[in-house]
Amino acid sequence: MTYANLLIELKDAVGWIRINRPDKLNALNRKTLQELHEAFRSLSENPQVRVIVLTGAGPKAFVAGADIAEMSGLSAIEARDFSKLGQNLMLSIEQCGKPVIAMINGFALGGGLELAMACAIRVAASTAKLGQPEVNLGLIPGFGGSQRLMRLCGKAVALDLCLSGQPIDAARALSVNLVTRMHSPDLLEEETGKLAVHMAALAPLALRGVLDCLRYGAEASLDVGLDYESQTFGLMFATEDMREGTDAFLQRRPAAFAGK
Ligand code: COA
Repeated sequence: MTYANLLIELKDAVGWIRINRPDKLNALNRKTLQELHEAFRSLSENPQVRVIVLTGAGPKAFVAGADIAEMSGLSAIEARDFSKLGQNLMLSIEQCGKPVIAMINGFALGGGLELAMACAIRVAASTAKLGQPEVNLGLIPGFGGSQRLMRLCGKAVALDLCLSGQPIDAARALSVNLVTRMHSPDLLEEETGKLAVHMAALAPLALRGVLDCLRYGAEASLDVGLDYESQTFGLMFATEDMREGTDAFLQRRPAAFAGK
């Protein structure tokens, strides 16, 4: 499948999705949102793909937000639907069952930061700028930004970023846990690729178990979260990969996980 606004590459069990509208700083118009939805569906169903990396084309931006030109003409009802389209994409990324790494190569603003926050891991270039600048446009975040930012970094950081509209640099983003890794721009792709390939060699069902536990647990009481963890832990003992992982450890050899 070819896309108008995305570049897709499969390499070493890693699916790379590159949003490809560099002349518009990879702004998310409706078509790009729909294509992302389809690309994530397709890569999540592809057994050859164990990890997904999402990034932006060009040297300047991951994604500089929802497409302001397209958005400016929307009616209130159309804007609500546009918000839902974006929110549903973010949910589908969170629930795709495979680790998704956002490789933040530049501006991640508005919808761009919201997209990055739907990913499991955020790796930023030291030159990246991240923020929720919607208030500068008389708007608020519409693709889940107010909610995910609060859950990831706490209410204080979410209020600061969403109320000031001011972006923060990657070092500050690292200090508030908005990103968990940072590299110089020239090493960003290499280091992100290494992380992705490392995770692609791990047991896919265990990775999925971790993703599920963290996703359910984040919204549940401790009791419910702990119970879900125990159920998922038990389920791992029904997998071939668990046998392979423990046998390989005891036999002092590398494990080869089949995802079964
Ligand atoms: N939607 C639509 N187009 C966008 C865009 C967006 N969110 N962000 C950037 N672009 C376009 C610009 O209109 C420009 O297009 P043009 O060359 O056809 O005029 C092109 O991308 C380059 O952007 P430009 O503003 O010239 O780059 P810059 O380096 O001077 O500034 C930013 C970079 C990111 C600071 C600036 O583009 C910006 O503030 N973008 C909007 C960020 C935002 O508010 N996002 C939230 C949207 S809800």
